[in-house]
Amino acid sequence: MSIAVLGAPSPAHRKALEPLGLASPERAELRVYVHARPPARAPRSPWLWVSPREVDPQLAAQAVLAGAYDAIAADSQLAETVKRRLAELRVQVEPGTPPDGYIARSEAARRVLLDLDRAAHTSFAVLLTGETGTGKDLAARYLHARSGRQGELVPINCAAIPNELIEGELFGYVRGAFSGAVADYDGLIRAAVGGTVFLDEVDDTPKTLQIKLLRVLEDRVVARLGENAWRRVDFRIIAATNRDLVELVRKGEFGGDLYQRLAIVRIELPPLRDRAADVPELCAHLIARFYRDEPDAKHRVARVSPPAMAALLRYPWPGNVRELRNVLFHALVRKLGGDELLLSDLPEHVVRGQPADEPATATLVDRAQLARLIDGGHMNLRAIRDALERTALELALAKAGGSPARAARLLGEVGRGASSDPGGTVRAMMKRFGLA
Ligand SMILES: Nc1ncnc2c1ncn2[C@@H]1O[C@H](COP(=O)(O)OP(=O)(O)OP(=O)(O)O)[C@@H](O)[C@H]1O
Ligand SMILES: [Mg+2]
Repeated sequence: MSIAVLGAPSPAHRKALEPLGLASPERAELRVYVHARPPARAPRSPWLWVSPREVDPQLAAQAVLAGAYDAIAADSQLAETVKRRLAELRVQVEPGTPPDGYIARSEAARRVLLDLDRAAHTSFAVLLTGETGTGKDLAARYLHARSGRQGELVPINCAAIPNELIEGELFGYVRGAFSGAVADYDGLIRAAVGGTVFLDEVDDTPKTLQIKLLRVLEDRVVARLGENAWRRVDFRIIAATNRDLVELVRKGEFGGDLYQRLAIVRIELPPLRDRAADVPELCAHLIARFYRDEPDAKHRVARVSPPAMAALLRYPWPGNVRELRNVLFHALVRKLGGDELLLSDLPEHVVRGQPADEPATATLVDRAQLARLIDGGHMNLRAIRDALERTALELALAKAGGSPARAARLLGEVGRGASSDPGGTVRAMMKRFGLA
C-alpha cells in the first residue's frame, strides 16, 4: 500500500498518514490531496480530496466532478478512511464481473460499470443520463445493490404521476389534508429511508415540486402535507433523464440549483451503436431471457446466424437495448422452426440498416382508405385533421395530468421554438376544441 500526500498538509496530517506508507506521486497507488480547496487541475490517477475542515458540499461536488474518488475531512479517522478508500479502489482495479443479466463487454460499458461501482461507495447524488433504452433503470438498480444500503430502492417516475397528486405521493400527507386523503400516508421518500430514491424522468418534475425537492435535498427533511413537523430522513438519491438537463436549465425549464444537487456525479450511458461489442452477448442474454419467460415455446433458437448478426451489428438502434430486445422477441415469437435466427427473421428496416421512419405515422395514415374517400368525393380533410388533433390532445392531457406544457411534450413538442411558452399551443388547441 502506498499513498502520496500532496497539497498543503500540516505536520499533523502528514504524521497521521505516514503509517499508510508514503511514496512519490508517480509510484503511489492513491494521491491524497490535502488542501482547503480541491485542486483546479486534477491528477489523472485515483485521488482523494482531504479538507482540513468539515467538507463543504459545494467543494466536494467540485472535487468529484474533477475526478476525485471521494472528499473527506481530516478528522481523527483520517488514516482509517484513506485506508478504506484505498482498499475499495483496489477491488475496482481488477476487472469486475458484471452481475447476472448486466451485459458489459465493450470498453464503454465496462467504464460505466466502473463508474457505477465507484459512485456506489459514496453517498453522493448520481445523475444517470443517456438515450432511451440505454439501461438507466438497470444502472440505478445496480448502483443501489452495490451501495450496501439496507433500505429499499424506491423508484419515482415523475412523468407518470399526475401533477395534483405528486406532492402527496412523494412527501406523504395526514388524514384530511385534502379531499381524498382518507388516511395518513408517509409518502415515497420516507419509504426510502436507509435506501435510495430513484427519480426517473426527472426532467418532467413540475416547477413547484422542484422547489420543494431542493429543500428536501439540502436539509434532508420531509414534512407530510397538512402537517408542520419536519422529519429528518436519510436516503441516497439517483436521478435519470434522457433529455439534456443542462440545456433545460439554460432555457429556464429546470432549476439550476436542483440540477447542481442532483448531478454531483454524472454517469452517461453510451448509446448501443457506440458499443457494438456488446451486441452479440446482449442477443444471447435476451434470447435466454425470452425462453425463460416462455418456457412452453415449441422449439428453441440457440444462435444468431452470421448474416443476421452482421445486420444487428450494423443497425444504429435509436431505441438502444430496448429496441434490440423488441426486435429479437418479435422475431422469436414468429419463428416457426429451426435453431438459428436468420436474416429473414429480422424486420425489413433492420435488414436495410435504416430505422423505420416514424412507424406510427405510417400506420395512422391509411393511404388506401384516403384514396377511397377522395375517389368517392367524401373527403373532408379539415374534419379528419380535427378529429386526430382532438383525440391526441385529449389523450396527452389525460396522461399529463392536465398540464399543457407536459402535454405539448407528449405530443412531440408542439409549438416549441415558435413560442417561449411551451404550453401555449396546447392551450390554444384546447380553446379551439372547447376543452376545459
Ligand atoms: N447492459 C445491459 N445488459 C442487459 N440488459 C440491458 C442492458 N441495458 C439495458 N438492458 C435492457 O434493456 C431494456 C431497457 O433498459 P432500461 O429500462 O434500463 O432503459 P432506460 O435507459 O431506463 O430507458 P428510458 O430512458 O426509456 O427509461 C431493459 O429490458 C433492460 O433490462
Ligand atoms: Mg427508464
